[in-house]
Amino acid sequence: MGKLFISEHPLIQNKMSMLRDKNTSTKEFRELVNEITMLLTYEATREIPVCDVEIDTPIAKTVCKAITKDIVIVPILRAGIGMVDGVHMLLPASKVGHIGIYRDPDTFTPIEYYCKVPKNIKGAKVFIVDPMLATGKTAEAAIELLKERGADDITMLCIIAAPEGVKAVQSTFNDVDIYTAAYDLALNEKGYIVPGLGDAGDRMFGTK
Ligand code: URA
Repeated sequence: MGKLFISEHPLIQNKMSMLRDKNTSTKEFRELVNEITMLLTYEATREIPVCDVEIDTPIAKTVCKAITKDIVIVPILRAGIGMVDGVHMLLPASKVGHIGIYRDPDTFTPIEYYCKVPKNIKGAKVFIVDPMLATGKTAEAAIELLKERGADDITMLCIIAAPEGVKAVQSTFNDVDIYTAAYDLALNEKGYIVPGLGDAGDRMFGTK
């Protein structure tokens, strides 16, 4: 089974308390999502392979470590867009793919409307980014799309995960790790995470 990593880092928890607050402005919300994503990326890259590289310092030659693996960030539209910069801050050479999936409001069934990812995704470390892992149906559909295109090293980064979403992803895929800043109680009848933070896309882009 893939790993479920729930951050207990005080910096993340402190930022989560601000992010969840309904009085937090759109600007602050976006900034917090980026900062939390950056901190999660730090955790999620702890075991990424590194290679020896020879470097000339102003004083001498030395051997250092560098990340040479291709990295691909795949935001699930639209809220996932808000997490891209947070990963890019630490992994600026990452390529970015995009997957557009929306949830049918009545059945919560995922409907794909866009998919464009880098060609050589096989062998790359792929970070799917989506702030809310709710039912897990969107995540499952995104993982399936990426696997069809050759992805074989997928990690999900989310801000809040619900037990239902984690269970769905873990029971369908045994090779996908999930990193989240919080693990909440459950979903309500409308598919929102409780206590959650509301609609991540609306709060990020000021659409409500
Ligand atoms: N999507 C959101 O934006 N919020 C939730 O609580 C669940 C899914």
